[in-house]
Amino acid sequence: MSKVKVAIVGAGNIAQNAHLPVYMKRDDVEVVAIADLNLERAQDAAKKFAIPHAYASVEELLEKEKAVDAVDVCVWNRSHAPVSIAAAKAGKAVLCEKPLALNMADALQMQEEIGKCGTLFMNGLVNRYRPDVSLVREMLDAGKFGDVYYATASYVRRRGTPIGWFTDTSKSGGGPVIDIGVHAIDRTWYMMGCPKPTRLSANISYAIGDFKTKGVSRWLALDSDVTAFDTEDSAAGVIHFENGALMLFECSWALNAQPREYSEICGKLAGAKLDAKDLTIFGEDCGYLTDNTPSFNRRQDPFYNEIDHFLDCLRTGKKPISGMEDAVTVMRMLMGIYESAKLGKEVEL
Ligand SMILES: NC(=O)c1ccc[n+]([C@@H]2O[C@H](COP(=O)([O-])OP(=O)(O)OC[C@H]3O[C@@H](n4cnc5c(N)ncnc54)[C@H](O)[C@@H]3O)[C@@H](O)[C@H]2O)c1
Repeated sequence: MSKVKVAIVGAGNIAQNAHLPVYMKRDDVEVVAIADLNLERAQDAAKKFAIPHAYASVEELLEKEKAVDAVDVCVWNRSHAPVSIAAAKAGKAVLCEKPLALNMADALQMQEEIGKCGTLFMNGLVNRYRPDVSLVREMLDAGKFGDVYYATASYVRRRGTPIGWFTDTSKSGGGPVIDIGVHAIDRTWYMMGCPKPTRLSANISYAIGDFKTKGVSRWLALDSDVTAFDTEDSAAGVIHFENGALMLFECSWALNAQPREYSEICGKLAGAKLDAKDLTIFGEDCGYLTDNTPSFNRRQDPFYNEIDHFLDCLRTGKKPISGMEDAVTVMRMLMGIYESAKLGKEVEL
């Protein structure tokens, strides 16, 4: 089988530290080109990963690299829509980093324009590709939990605001809600079986802001010469679903609280809770409560699994498990959080 020709757009942190290392491990893929608005950054990455061509824009890349099969979009959130749409219009399959887009208008434009192209589109909702999350979803699909009617989603950092464009709403679309809330909410929603969200009530806070706390570790975007800091630093609320289920969520970049990251789903027959380390299935057997800890391969890299699934969909025509429809619904929930907080009341989704 011939190698899949991939081009990367955005030569920043996630491209160099998560996506490119996966492509480098595979012998069924050839990364043929990379583009970044910062040409020097694209050239440096090309040298580091032995990529033959570097360009300063997606347009130039698409013009010169007609043989590319797929474009992997690793740019700031504001650039997700224009870059993904340009690639799809050129007939390329697209894998686009999370969140889907800067805002709802961009998300809907992507859905419409990429939908018309009929090309493969997958959103990098990477938590779906965690082995523990896949296991829970498999159990859910096998009916092991019964109807899931309650869930909690959490991603709380005490002082973990990223440095760079992430805090500039014009490039990011928002703070922890859109950056890491997306992981907690999507992961939990996926574990619930993706019921239709109907209404949402949330609050967001700007209490801590641009802190100077020492000795804390923070994600450094390569595009870090950004001074804007106009994003929220925490959010919490409740999402209601058409089937009567409810999800409580919380997320923060900065909160005076114990850091935590977990998802918990509660069904009529059993429940499941997972965090960064453990997965527990809460059940009942012979009249006794049971806490089971299934064995699974913890060493699987979710980014490897995500890219593997994308390539599989490209080769076989299979529908991705994180396609456009789910990505747009996740955006509806994320944008609903901002809307509800702004209006100070529950919003319909
Ligand atoms: N899945 C995850 O867990 C995860 C983690 C971190 C970041 N991300 C996502 O990855 C994306 C990139 O984040 P990062 O941390 O790598 O940022 P970064 O600043 O390190 O890199 C972004 C790069 O995109 C380039 N760029 C922006 N617009 C462009 C355009 N139109 N054409 C070409 N290049 C363009 C910038 O010049 C920059 O080099 C974001 O969407 C972010 O949300 C995902």
